[in-house]
Amino acid sequence: MPITVLLGVQWGDEGKGRITDALAAEADLVARYNGGDNAGHSITIGRAVVRLHLVPSGIFHERCLNVIGNGTVVNPLNLRKEIEEIRAAGIEVSPRRLRISRAAHVILPGHLALDAAREAQGGIGTTQRGIGPAYSDKAARLGVRAGVMEDPKAFADAVRAHTERVNRLLVHEFNRPPLDVEASASAYAEAATHLRAYLDDTTQVLREALRAGKHVLAEGAQAALLDIDHGTYPFVTASNPTIGGVMIGLGVPPQAITRVIGVAKAFTTRVGSGPFVTEVHGDLALRLRGTGANPWDEYGATTGRPRRVGWLDAVALRYAVWINGVTELALTKLDVLSGLSTVNVCVAYRYRGRTLEDFPQDTSILNACEPIYETMPGWDEDIRGVRAWEALPANARAFVQRVAQLAGVPVRLLSTGPERAQLLQLDGVQS
Ligand code: IMO
Ligand code: MG
Repeated sequence: MPITVLLGVQWGDEGKGRITDALAAEADLVARYNGGDNAGHSITIGRAVVRLHLVPSGIFHERCLNVIGNGTVVNPLNLRKEIEEIRAAGIEVSPRRLRISRAAHVILPGHLALDAAREAQGGIGTTQRGIGPAYSDKAARLGVRAGVMEDPKAFADAVRAHTERVNRLLVHEFNRPPLDVEASASAYAEAATHLRAYLDDTTQVLREALRAGKHVLAEGAQAALLDIDHGTYPFVTASNPTIGGVMIGLGVPPQAITRVIGVAKAFTTRVGSGPFVTEVHGDLALRLRGTGANPWDEYGATTGRPRRVGWLDAVALRYAVWINGVTELALTKLDVLSGLSTVNVCVAYRYRGRTLEDFPQDTSILNACEPIYETMPGWDEDIRGVRAWEALPANARAFVQRVAQLAGVPVRLLSTGPERAQLLQLDGVQS
């Protein structure tokens, strides 16, 4: 009963969508286990770029069943819109192909308002999708689970009670206008009438699939360094994108996991505030980020914000490989480095005169760290058309080999461009 897990090992936006899209071709079931529509997974199919936020990437593969697991948070209005957009691209979305866990928590209007109100007071640069407040309510035992949408009337009552409670906070604590209770209740109840057909006990769905020997792909959103426990707290998301989140967010046993693919960019990006040891500015930053003219340039898929950019951080990478039990890496966006005369990789940190080989747990220490770089020669060739490892420039191969060596796990997938064909399957580049 094999589960392959695919998760981000940096600060998100590693290109997880395009890797899941490739792996989903061989999967029977693709499941999202954490997060909500704060994720933005771009998938390039021909000339079209489709952006998924909550629906698993298996939706583009006819044979895949797709599951939105109990560990996620679901915005009913946005999910409905996303389903309509996928349909508009000619893809069938029906309960035959998509199930939503009854135990997933619902993102309600007050969560969005609270996220915005807290950010306005100087937050951490969230996506303002209500993620933190929704998970807070889950932990506080105040949340509304998706199963309530089965009965739109009961759901409307739950939305009313939630909105009235949050209104007291908005008015008294944040000095903001209250939300319209009835408008919220009716909009959400209306969305529930469209979504209730998709509700299911997804723990059972997964158990049956695994018992039948089906191949399950667990698709992570966000990434290791945004994990609420293992990331750069408080500059993190509110869920566990790391490996433990798979068991919790889907209800599957750890023994079922056979492969853990860590997705990393050949450089690093981060959206929102927080420590970023290898961050660069100026011309090099513009060069790595792109102008925004292409959909794959480094601008948030969910918020449109320009991403912060920097060199690959092997200290952080090693840490993410360890805590997740990563068995192999998928390295993306190698083509972006083409044309640079030299390429840097951070191999250790300098902290108050000391050298740190290990990623520090304390965010204040991380803030004071300086990168120690290894500089490698670059390559000029455009590698987007390259379809074989041997055909890559020698310096590009040396770079990938060094990354594998520093991470301590092989690189098995290498993307040299955004299109489906621009993904090399490697035997396992070790060193
Ligand atoms: P994918 O799945 C990159 C970041 C936000 C912010 C922090 C908290 O596309 O990799 P939140 O709205 O989750 O409370 O924001 O987390 N963040 C992401 N950054 N990619 C994502 O998802 C992200 N989801 C959240 O920018 O810093
Ligand atoms: Mg993204």
